[in-house]
Amino acid sequence: MSANNDQNFVKTVLGVIGALVALTFVIVIVAALLSGKEPLDPAAAQKLQSRIAPIGHEITDPEEFKKLTAVAPHTPLTGEQVVAQVCSACHGSGVLGAPKIGDKAAWSARKSAAGGVDGLAASAEKGKNSMPPRGGRADLSDDEIKGAVAEMLKQTGV
Ligand code: HEC
Repeated sequence: MSANNDQNFVKTVLGVIGALVALTFVIVIVAALLSGKEPLDPAAAQKLQSRIAPIGHEITDPEEFKKLTAVAPHTPLTGEQVVAQVCSACHGSGVLGAPKIGDKAAWSARKSAAGGVDGLAASAEKGKNSMPPRGGRADLSDDEIKGAVAEMLKQTGV
């Protein structure tokens, strides 16, 4: 009776062990099949990569630095546009003692003192007292400054 019990116990244990071993094989085979496959199609993988990519990167290439920090060239503005966008901020109302657009006496005096439009333009490029170089817009070209000076003189009637 007791020998029979022992036999049954051993059978049961071996059965369970056998089942577990079989299950292990099944799991290993299934895992191997799954991992062997391409997990994502390349487009999805690229999307995923871009989503988890770090924000920004260190710039070590001087060429790349130059490209990123270059002042974007703008399409040349007309004198009228420069005056409207930049110069009139001070010259419209005479802020800081700027000669006002329309003040004939002030502009004629400055024009003859500077020796004409070119002289005034050169002075505007350099800056003078409270007048910042190029009216504070370093990206304006000499031609744009000269055009703006000519425009202010024209609007003033000088
Ligand atoms: C932040 C205010 C400001 C802005 C903006 C500004 N100006 Fe002036 N500007 C002045 C002041 C102030 C003076 C008078 C400087 C002085 O004689 O002390 C002046 C003087 C001038 C003169 C006379 C210079 C001379 O030699 O007598 C010219 C020309 C001139 N500005 C052109 C321009 C042009 C062109 C622009 C736009 C691109 C411009 N300014 C924008 C403030 C400004």
